[in-house]
Amino acid sequence: MIERSGLRVINMRALLSFFMLIAVAVVVKSEEKWWSAMSLYQIYPRSFKDSNGDGIGDLKGIIDNLDHLVESKVTAMWMSPIYPSPGVDMGYDISNFIEIDPLFGTLEDFDILLEKAHKTGLKVLMDFVPNHSSDQHEWFQKSVKDIPPYNNYYVWANGTFKAGGTRAPPNNWVSVFGGPAWTWNDQRQAYYLHQFTPQQPDLNYRYENLRDEIKNVLRFWLDRGVDGFRIDVINHVFEIQSLQDEPLSGNTNDPNNYGYLNHIYTKDQPECYELVRQWRELLDEYNKDGEHERLMVLEAYTDINLTMKYYKFGASFPFNFGFIQRLNADSSPADVKFVIDEWMARMPDGNTANWVIGNHDQKRVASRYGVERAQGIIALLLLLPGVLIMYNGDEIGMPNNYVSWEQGKDPQGCNAGREGFEAASRDPFRTPFLWDGTTSAGFSTNPNTWLPVNPDYKSLNLEVQKEAGDSQFKFYQTVAELRSWPTAQSGDLYTYVISDNIFAISRILGGQRSIYLVLNFGNELRNEDLTRKIENIPGELIIYRGIGNSDLPYGSIIDSKSAQIPARGAVIYVTPEMSRKFEVKLL
Ligand code: GLC
Repeated sequence: MIERSGLRVINMRALLSFFMLIAVAVVVKSEEKWWSAMSLYQIYPRSFKDSNGDGIGDLKGIIDNLDHLVESKVTAMWMSPIYPSPGVDMGYDISNFIEIDPLFGTLEDFDILLEKAHKTGLKVLMDFVPNHSSDQHEWFQKSVKDIPPYNNYYVWANGTFKAGGTRAPPNNWVSVFGGPAWTWNDQRQAYYLHQFTPQQPDLNYRYENLRDEIKNVLRFWLDRGVDGFRIDVINHVFEIQSLQDEPLSGNTNDPNNYGYLNHIYTKDQPECYELVRQWRELLDEYNKDGEHERLMVLEAYTDINLTMKYYKFGASFPFNFGFIQRLNADSSPADVKFVIDEWMARMPDGNTANWVIGNHDQKRVASRYGVERAQGIIALLLLLPGVLIMYNGDEIGMPNNYVSWEQGKDPQGCNAGREGFEAASRDPFRTPFLWDGTTSAGFSTNPNTWLPVNPDYKSLNLEVQKEAGDSQFKFYQTVAELRSWPTAQSGDLYTYVISDNIFAISRILGGQRSIYLVLNFGNELRNEDLTRKIENIPGELIIYRGIGNSDLPYGSIIDSKSAQIPARGAVIYVTPEMSRKFEVKLL
């Protein structure tokens, strides 16, 4: 359990301006939940490892490479969808929620994966996509034919008629990938709603039978033994019943652009939270002894208040996308401090923080922050309290990979047309994992893979990094090792703006060695007097590890009045001796 001491007694606005001035103490109490300091690794199955040479990753590929997860010191994994799917949105258009796509394997393969992962000590989360199914799903096929009860499983509406008699959709809603959120169906003689592609019709959560059906899907996977779910676009699941027009945002004149409207009626509806509460109850039926909480991890790109509210309704945690959405290579130490402190301060009492490095929808961390700074950012997130969420390839510093219009697969990119493809496509973040220097980077024996392999794979791959004296993977591993120290697991957190380009955190736990991470966002080597800003820092520190300068004398003692931080780099220090119990004197 994480508890915030002292912070409770001052109001939020005062607190936020306070952040900029002082080091905020966050008292992290040691935690008994199995997942409260876990590292959660996202596998993108299509691109992880192909075992049968068809150029697409599969379950056997994952089973054969679980050792990599162990070596990456992760606790659990979540997999993007592996269910049967026509693949219009790369598996997020599901045509059967309780089967495995033959592309990836069989249910038997899935059981083997689960068993092997559990034996290895890894927990497994499924990606659960409740907002929509594929238009090829049997339910939708029956809904089109108006067959009860399926006729109510989706959101159908009569259109309107414009002057002159042309038919038009019921309202102005736009789909996330662009274009109207409604498609006319001749057979049913009605429009159906799709917040994403037309091949992803929205399910109707106002219909109890559908809600029960979806609960049975959750039960199906829980009965098989999964440890929880990553829940896709939870905040899109309900729309306002009156189907009224959304107001214009004023940001663009293009009525086919998702940014055209303020999505006050299609996102973040109060009913989404109630659904989460019901699913929490269901998950808890599988945790009667309180020993094995099933995880509910929510994806909702929304504002901080609406995000935090999910904690109160039973989410294990809603993803914290702060390091993806609000920070980048140009961010200052004050920006980084703000994002960290804000999450810790706003999180309801008794909950666990989390920090997302990347995922299959976002530019890779190495491309968002630059290859060098990204390593410091990963170290930072590894050393913050709570859960770390990483995306396969982050541990070896995979950057975005060029994917041409002709090679493109992502509907978000393809819908943007040849001109807009590069800016909109998520394909560059989804290309195959770089295992070694053989054909297709060891991802597949097939030289033709579903998305192109990064052409730099001969020098940028896991094997090369494992064999090198120093590498991104080795840096990652040593910091991940430090993460297992009691101080990193449950020590108090302090955040500091040391100077214009220097940011630092400390983790302090009574009776244990303290940890200090100092990041340099600037382009010049800095010599910093850490004692100026970090109260109670010992005069001498040991260099645990650093990045940005391979000559750093690891293990040697430095004077904390002159800490050398390489350009765009980071240095981690630990105290030589046990620290005394550190009393937090915040107010
Ligand atoms: C989520 C997924 C994304 C998908 C969308 C629609 O945001 O992460 O990949 O396109 O939902 O299902």
